Amino acid sequence: MNIQSLLSEKVSQALIAAGASADSEAQVRQSAKAQFGDYQANGVMSVAKKLGMPPRQLAEKVVELLDLSGIANKVEIAGPGFINIFLDPAFVGAHVDSALTAPKLGITPVEPQTIVIDYSAPNVAKEMHVGHIRSTIIGDAAVRTNEFLGHKVIRANHVGDWGTQFGMLIAYLEKVQNENAGDMNLADLEEFYRAAKKNYDEDEDFALRARGYVVKLQGGDEYCRQMWRKLVDVTMAQNQLTYNRLNVTLTEDDVMGESLYNDMLPGIVSDLQAKGLAVDSEGAVVVYLDEYKNKDGDPMGVIIRKKDGGYLYTTTDIACAKYRYETLGADRVLYYIDSRQHQHLMQAWTIARKAGYVPDSVALEHHMFGMMLGKDGKPFKTRSGGTVKLSDLLDEAIDRARKLITEKNPELKDAEELDKLVNAVGIGAIKYADLSKSRTTDYIFDWDNMLAFEGNTAPYMQYAYTRVASIFKRADIDVNSLTQPVVLREEREAALATRLLQFEEVLTVVAREGTPHTMCAYLYDVAGLFSSFYEHCPILNAEDETSRNSRLKLALLTQRTLKTGLDTLGIETVERM
Ligand code: ARG
Repeated sequence: MNIQSLLSEKVSQALIAAGASADSEAQVRQSAKAQFGDYQANGVMSVAKKLGMPPRQLAEKVVELLDLSGIANKVEIAGPGFINIFLDPAFVGAHVDSALTAPKLGITPVEPQTIVIDYSAPNVAKEMHVGHIRSTIIGDAAVRTNEFLGHKVIRANHVGDWGTQFGMLIAYLEKVQNENAGDMNLADLEEFYRAAKKNYDEDEDFALRARGYVVKLQGGDEYCRQMWRKLVDVTMAQNQLTYNRLNVTLTEDDVMGESLYNDMLPGIVSDLQAKGLAVDSEGAVVVYLDEYKNKDGDPMGVIIRKKDGGYLYTTTDIACAKYRYETLGADRVLYYIDSRQHQHLMQAWTIARKAGYVPDSVALEHHMFGMMLGKDGKPFKTRSGGTVKLSDLLDEAIDRARKLITEKNPELKDAEELDKLVNAVGIGAIKYADLSKSRTTDYIFDWDNMLAFEGNTAPYMQYAYTRVASIFKRADIDVNSLTQPVVLREEREAALATRLLQFEEVLTVVAREGTPHTMCAYLYDVAGLFSSFYEHCPILNAEDETSRNSRLKLALLTQRTLKTGLDTLGIETVERM
């Protein structure tokens, strides 16, 4: 049920009947305050201007023509020409009933799109760092939300698995293997990378060998290919453990690394040359873009092939965009990459569009995010200034959650249940802290805030869920016995019910904009409305059977909405805590 769409349609019809052009927008929004009704239509003012009519007069005409019977029980004009719409509790109650019986809480089926989502994208032989956590967590919420709505989502893990550094990595892997004459130790990928680099910088023979391996690898040499595979596999096997711990839906099948596009690159460069988009410049191949000016005001040159014949990150992203449209059949492509790569993406896409690789009907969207900062407001680092390993971060989250839970709940003795709970809360806290902030800004990583039981945090939301769930368990109520229709008599019932019916509106926003924080804010609001409903409207001891039944149904829809909503965020729930 999408009330906003329904009302938009109705108000648009009335606007058109009142003389507005067919493309006029009703501008229906959820009202910010109860006194303005449940929804507001703000479109009258701009239409009145176009028609040269006093807005209040137009508003009156629209209200006259507006047929909201069975939907609203009051429509008011406010201020210069706002239309405030108050939903009819009978309408709201009936839709609570259908949300409880329809699949997926009654959300409207979508016309399925193919959506490619580029996220996580760690680099081979390197630890995942904080930038990758944000991409991984936020991207996975976008994946889950779009899939829940019914779209076909293709997860694309654009792993950094190609480039000149592989010569040095292969040479070092070879060295380690020769020395250990057995198992290689890649457990510490950061260390491995550092050591490879050190050898490369300090040992001339090693560097020579490394450079040779780059050429061989690119030429498809079997030995180099195998060594490269090993590096990729070991890295991705480690990352997979992290994905599993994080309850992230990526699997090894979703890896579509940079190497995938390698064979396309020569063709892309010659095609861009043939189309007159790319030109030779001192031995390199460059695309000049009028859209991007350098310091001197001249069109910026984007190198797509270096003098030595090597290709660049941009060349790969041009090919990648083409592949996602042409081969994967994408209608939309969402990129969860930090904001520092914005210009890079814009350049790659501008070139891809100019070359006709991706039509304008296919959206390429950079859903960027800011940096993760420490409490001091500086980039998040270990105490000694190193990069924070993701696995260490998760270990710490679990430790802290265990302390918290055992202090709060000492009687919880079942080891298995405790582990499950600690995991849900610890991992949930890290994820939720990130998801609940607007992604475009930097965010401060703060253990105390994210593990607090008050405020918009994972523990609060998970606890709120258990409170609702416990109503049914304590009273041993079979939800199938709730057969009477919902009747809303109290304001608090109606407020909660209306908010619950807005679930689809929020899902739609998250799916469109890639902003999971709007879902967090919504769920937090639902939890708050439930609390105040629960406090003021007795459920099991309701005054009569009609109210008891209705309130139980409201509790049930609250429970399902919280669970489903948290699930679209990748946050686990538990039945008690
Ligand atoms: N591997 C890159 C990094 O660590 C991110 C790749 C993002 N995806 C893309 N299509 N460029 O910064």
